[in-house]
Order: sequence, then C-alpha cells, then structure tokens
Amino acid sequence: MVKWYSHLNETVGPILLDSATIQKRVLELAEQITRDYKGKTPHLIGILKGASIFHADLVRYIDLGVTFDFMAVGSYGSAVKSSGEVRILKDLDESLEGKDVLVVEDIFDTGLTLHYLLNNLSSRGPRSLKVVSLLSKPSRREIEVQVDYVGFEIPDQFVIGYGLDYSQRYRNLPDIRILKLSAETHGAQRKNK
Ligand code: IMP
Ligand code: MG
Repeated sequence: MVKWYSHLNETVGPILLDSATIQKRVLELAEQITRDYKGKTPHLIGILKGASIFHADLVRYIDLGVTFDFMAVGSYGSAVKSSGEVRILKDLDESLEGKDVLVVEDIFDTGLTLHYLLNNLSSRGPRSLKVVSLLSKPSRREIEVQVDYVGFEIPDQFVIGYGLDYSQRYRNLPDIRILKLSAETHGAQRKNK
C-alpha cells in the first residue's frame, strides 16, 4: 500500500479503479491479445509517458513472443486540456515494415492523439495496425478512431495514477484516482492561459 500521497493537498481524489481491478482487466486484455495474435509476434508500441506502466504490465501477461518500441507525443495545451495539435517528441527506434503493430495507449479521450498516431504509423508499412487503450472517455470524443481493445470506459473526469499524470505527477499511484482541482489550482490554471 502506498501511503505517501495521503499528506498531499486535495488534488488527489477518490479511487475510480483500484489496483486489483486494473490488474484483472489487464490480464483479460492480454489473454484476448494472446488469442488474436496466435502464431505472430506482435510489436507493442508504448506511448510515453502515460502508457508506460500499462505497457509494462500488459507485455508480461501476453503469452507470446513480443517485441517493443516506444514513442512520445505531446500536444500543446494546459495540464488538463489538449489543444489537439500533436507533435512527435521521441520517434520509434525501429522500422514498422511488415510488423504486426499494436499501439498501447493510456487513454482514448478526444481521439486527436490516436487519430494522428494511426495516420502517421500506417504510412510506415506495418502488416497490421491495431490499438489497445486502457481507458476510454466516450463523452469527450471529437474524432472517432478504431480502438480494438479497451480496458475501461470511464466518465468525463480527469484521472491520475497507473501512468496517468497531472503536471507530470502521480504517475506512480497504483490505483487510478479522480483529480480534484482545488480553488488554488484553478486560479493557477487561469493565470497560465
Ligand atoms: P486525446 O484527447 O485523446 O488526444 O488524449 C491525449 C492525451 O491526453 C492522452 O494520451 C493522455 O495523456 C491525456 N489525457 C486525457 N485525459 C486524461 C486524464 O483524465 N488524465 C490524464 N491524462 C489524460
Ligand atoms: Mg499520454
């Protein structure tokens, strides 16, 4: 049990998905991926930094040979709102030519990041291209994108933990929690705009 966050301010809210629930679902996703990719060697691309923890757990539950790579993308905007303009911060190390690529993402929110990524990656000659996202917020969608595997659909609330951050913090919380913005934080956000 991690206790260090209990002394922090009120930005850490209640648990939405606890660690055991997350692990059970990640195992189920891995079992489905293992069945679907039987006889193949999927190439799992983790989208940094948010999907790093999910990627690390998922690959250990997949009962197949896999390879992996990582890519970092960012969008201009504030800590909680994306502007939709996506750019590559760290590109892949390896070519995707002829590979069965599975993009591992933390959250499918507006869809702008995944839309950009799929367009970009599909031009690099993969044999197949699919997406697994741990979370999805359907109510926030601006662009529909085909996401082949979804862990949990969640309501329109900003979440932290299990890789997901607020201003680069809280990624190491074992549970997924709701972020509660204090009056102070709201003020700081307005000033930054
Ligand atoms: P998009 O809006 O689908 O393009 O999602 C862009 C990125 O915003 C995701 O990959 C996450 O890194 C981040 N994001 C969206 N919603 C949340 C959230 O609730 N908590 C933390 N990060 C989020
Ligand atoms: Mg992210």
